[in-house]
Amino acid sequence: MILVTGSSGALGGLILDRLAGHDVVAGTRSPDRGQRLVDFDRPETLVDGFEGVDVLVFVSAGFADDDVVLARHGAVVDAATAAGVRHVVYTSLVGSGDGLTIALAHRWTEARLAAAPFAVTVLRNGLYAEIPASMVPAAAESGVFAAPWGDGRMAVVAREDLADVAAKVALDSAAHAGRTYELEGVEAFGGQDVADLLTTTLDRPITYRPLPLAAAWEAPGPRFQVGHGVSLSANVLAGRLDLHPGDLETLLDAPPRDARQVIATKA
Ligand SMILES: NC(=O)c1ccc[n+]([C@@H]2O[C@H](COP(=O)([O-])OP(=O)(O)OC[C@H]3O[C@@H](n4cnc5c(N)ncnc54)[C@H](OP(=O)(O)O)[C@@H]3O)[C@@H](O)[C@H]2O)c1
Repeated sequence: MILVTGSSGALGGLILDRLAGHDVVAGTRSPDRGQRLVDFDRPETLVDGFEGVDVLVFVSAGFADDDVVLARHGAVVDAATAAGVRHVVYTSLVGSGDGLTIALAHRWTEARLAAAPFAVTVLRNGLYAEIPASMVPAAAESGVFAAPWGDGRMAVVAREDLADVAAKVALDSAAHAGRTYELEGVEAFGGQDVADLLTTTLDRPITYRPLPLAAAWEAPGPRFQVGHGVSLSANVLAGRLDLHPGDLETLLDAPPRDARQVIATKA
């Protein structure tokens, strides 16, 4: 049996969709009938939640401060060990993201998984195309795509492609045991690229306004999230997140989805 955590989240839900018809169960903090209670913040839910699971698709739960995320992810590794899970497929972060503040929790989790007694596959997910897409409505409204990205670009990948790979690996886990895959996007976007794309899509001029990095601290949201946003922009403008060769095309059965479409549909 395969269990997918974070199943009501965007990525977990897409992975679950792809596994429909197989021996799969959804793990979530808010289970409906036929789903399992899996709350990383409540370790007592995990051993029962993972009972009888052969392959655990462990979707990271990163929206919190690092101490919370490390506790969550450590609890998952401990419970998967106690429950006798055979193979864990973990959704991590691309190697090119090593300079991001979110990398710490991912690399810590990878190390904990490597020391565990079960087989592991690490899916080092690229940055979602949905990240620049989330900035599109404000640009469409104002006519200005404003971001502290300088001349930097960010390689992005559609979540759907990452879900395709995760489902494929979960269904044939033995073939992927011990592997770490870099699921880097194959298209990269800078501020001017997004502005040009929106200009074409909306058929009216959208301009790019590069902001100072300090502006990123003014973003709304919890402090950890704002800090991660600053780190993301700093890495973009430093050129750290531009295109890098990866494993995405090798693992997909079709060409990667067009990230331009993911971004343009939000216009
Ligand atoms: N590569 C990227 O660009 C990128 C960007 C953002 C985030 N991420 C990481 O990728 C993960 C999946 O992304 P997403 O887009 O699917 O995010 P999402 O839509 O926000 O879903 C995250 C899911 O994580 C689960 N979760 C949160 N806290 C949990 C806890 N205490 N115990 C168990 N599950 C918990 C929840 O599932 P339930 O509600 O079903 O419990 C939640 O819906 C994120 O959590 C984050 O770590 C990656």
